[in-house]
Amino acid sequence: MSVRHFLSLLDLTTEELRGLIARATELKRMHYEGVEHTPLKGKTLGMIFEKSSTRTRVSFEVGMIQLGGHALFLSPRDTQLGRGEPIEDSARVLSRMVDGVMIRTFEHEKIERFAAHSRVPVINGLTDLEHPCQLLADMQTWFEHRGDIAGRTVCYVGDGNNMCNSYITAAQRLGFTLHIACPEGYDPDPDLMQQAGDCARIIRDPREAARGADLVVTDVWASMGQEDEQSQRRQAFARYVVNGALMALARPDALFMHCLPAHREEEVSTEVLEGPQSVVWDEAENRLHAQKALLEFLMA
Ligand code: CP
Ligand code: NVA
Repeated sequence: MSVRHFLSLLDLTTEELRGLIARATELKRMHYEGVEHTPLKGKTLGMIFEKSSTRTRVSFEVGMIQLGGHALFLSPRDTQLGRGEPIEDSARVLSRMVDGVMIRTFEHEKIERFAAHSRVPVINGLTDLEHPCQLLADMQTWFEHRGDIAGRTVCYVGDGNNMCNSYITAAQRLGFTLHIACPEGYDPDPDLMQQAGDCARIIRDPREAARGADLVVTDVWASMGQEDEQSQRRQAFARYVVNGALMALARPDALFMHCLPAHREEEVSTEVLEGPQSVVWDEAENRLHAQKALLEFLMA
């Protein structure tokens, strides 16, 4: 049987994705009730981080421990990956020792090459193209606060980056409409847009995109690896700020999400981030529960 990977939300069927979201909420409840659940006893997750992380690292490591397993933090700084050992060789070696591998890296193609040579499931912990684990947590958060998301309208404001791309895949799988407000030159991935068809469309004016939205989402203007473009991006995105005036155009009961870390008074005002419509702390917590559901699905 060929091994399942999670490089994109599109690696799951709609039914599987819905099942994972429901399971995440169940695992959360079990955790709160103190129920011990250790289906990954004796199993190890290798975690390769070529970029910084707080949430992803801690949630995967704690998640593995709670499920009875163990996680290994592997940095290119002190493994042979950082000294040029081919990714294919690293995949073949590591996957003979661990039971799953999570990778955070730059080029998406790198994780695809790793997965193609891995005997064990590979999980995308963020690439330049996608951040699917974050979407599991975001969707769990939406379902917990508001129920089903099918037929709803989500407005993504800002850069057409990995978060935006993963929202496009979520719209396709879960049947919501995605309005993307991004400046010209910062569009999301055209192939993902094309695959999503009518589910996702670009609306340049953030005010028009936010009108009537059920959920407003944003992310940083300069992602990891784009630090040099910071000042140029500050200019390009000056109009793409989620503040009280923008939220007022969305539905009165609209929620606000941000994968974090956030830059207050850049992509989002403090008023919105800390306000009553913001669910960013639940969203961050749900990284743990959603990924436990994913680890159980792929590795148990
Ligand atoms: N949202 C997210 O992935 O956070 P980290 O970069 O801290 O992992
Ligand atoms: N788009 C951001 C997300 C960080 C979690 C980045 O790639 O840096």
